[in-house]
Amino acid sequence: MKEDRYIGVGDLKLTKEDKAMVNKVLDSNRLSYGPVSKEFEHEFAHLHDSKFGIFTNSGTSSLQIALAALKERYGWADGDEVIVPAVTFIATSNIVIHNNMRPVFVDVEETTFNIDPKKIEKAITPRTRAIIPVHLLGLPADMDPIMAIAKKHDLRIIEDSAETMFAKYKGRTVGSFGDIGCFSTYIAHYIVTGVGGINTTSDKELAVMLRSIMNHGRDSIYISIDDDSTNDVNKLKEVIGKRFRFVTLGHSFRVTELEAALGLSQLKRKDHIVARRKEIAARYLKGLSDLKEYLQFQYTPPDRDNVYMLFGIVSKTGKKEDLVNFLEQNGIETRDLLPLLNQPVYIKRFGNIEGKYPVAKRLDESGFYIGCHQYITDDDIEYIVGKFHEFFRS
Ligand SMILES: Cc1ncc(COP(=O)(O)O)c(C=O)c1O
Repeated sequence: MKEDRYIGVGDLKLTKEDKAMVNKVLDSNRLSYGPVSKEFEHEFAHLHDSKFGIFTNSGTSSLQIALAALKERYGWADGDEVIVPAVTFIATSNIVIHNNMRPVFVDVEETTFNIDPKKIEKAITPRTRAIIPVHLLGLPADMDPIMAIAKKHDLRIIEDSAETMFAKYKGRTVGSFGDIGCFSTYIAHYIVTGVGGINTTSDKELAVMLRSIMNHGRDSIYISIDDDSTNDVNKLKEVIGKRFRFVTLGHSFRVTELEAALGLSQLKRKDHIVARRKEIAARYLKGLSDLKEYLQFQYTPPDRDNVYMLFGIVSKTGKKEDLVNFLEQNGIETRDLLPLLNQPVYIKRFGNIEGKYPVAKRLDESGFYIGCHQYITDDDIEYIVGKFHEFFRS
């Protein structure tokens, strides 16, 4: 019999303040890119040690335009290569293919589940142009060696930080290491705006390109409907002349002031969101510490934060199915730990290559995650820990 209790991998409880911010936008009759989006972008970029933020309609869009902007700026050719980890959400490598480039996979670390810097150089060829390290499940990738490799081989870096917000690696925040950082505000993330993604960068030219590409490739002179409200006649003439000018091959990846209002409001409680997630993870780790013979958890090196978007677990006894089914029957939602190379669409495209990535293969077969979000109660934690023990007792 299925439990009444349900602990999902994500949840959402909008507050009075969130709703008031949204209502304020509705009352303003202004939905297109405007003051609320600008404030959200500014705040978000600032919190991620970056000068510019660009709010789009998804984390995938933010990745798509990040690579498009770099490809355009550096004149990369179709078929050039981009290194991505062999364990990640499929969007990380899909966007490489959507940009007519080739993803080259690199295995991940046994302990952190993030891309293994020691294995990157072997994957570099004369056609390699960029690396997309992913900060998986809330844990920053090992950025120092990755940045050193990028410098040595003249490669660009896009950080896929869709699963990690506000976290620091050696005192510096994710999204500020590479040329461009990419975040998601989709359901079950830290800040939830329904749909949404954010680019961070400190490179002004790239910021302008990103803004253009997400907006049909428009000339940066006319990005918001305020850009032609000027009393300066000469300025107005120039704007009118260029208002319908398209300078890059763009997409329609815009969002509205409504999503920005939700984001801006939730940023105010980011400290609580992060602190509670860390606290829940610490309690899971303590409560499950006597099951280490059966279970492996994501290791957090002391030089970085783990802000635990999700709590990753690997079954050490091989098959995870019985455990996962038991948890689900007891109302504890699980998901596979981001298997990529064994997905039908990738097998069709790349063949059966999973065997070349032994760590990824093990995680694909035996890894899963459970929720670690701020709405999980102390009672839920006790219940979850209890269910793991019940499973292994039997
Ligand atoms: C690592 C990673 N990259 C990209 C994305 C895509 O983000 P979105 O769903 O907002 O498009 C996700 C989704 O959570 C993700 O986990």
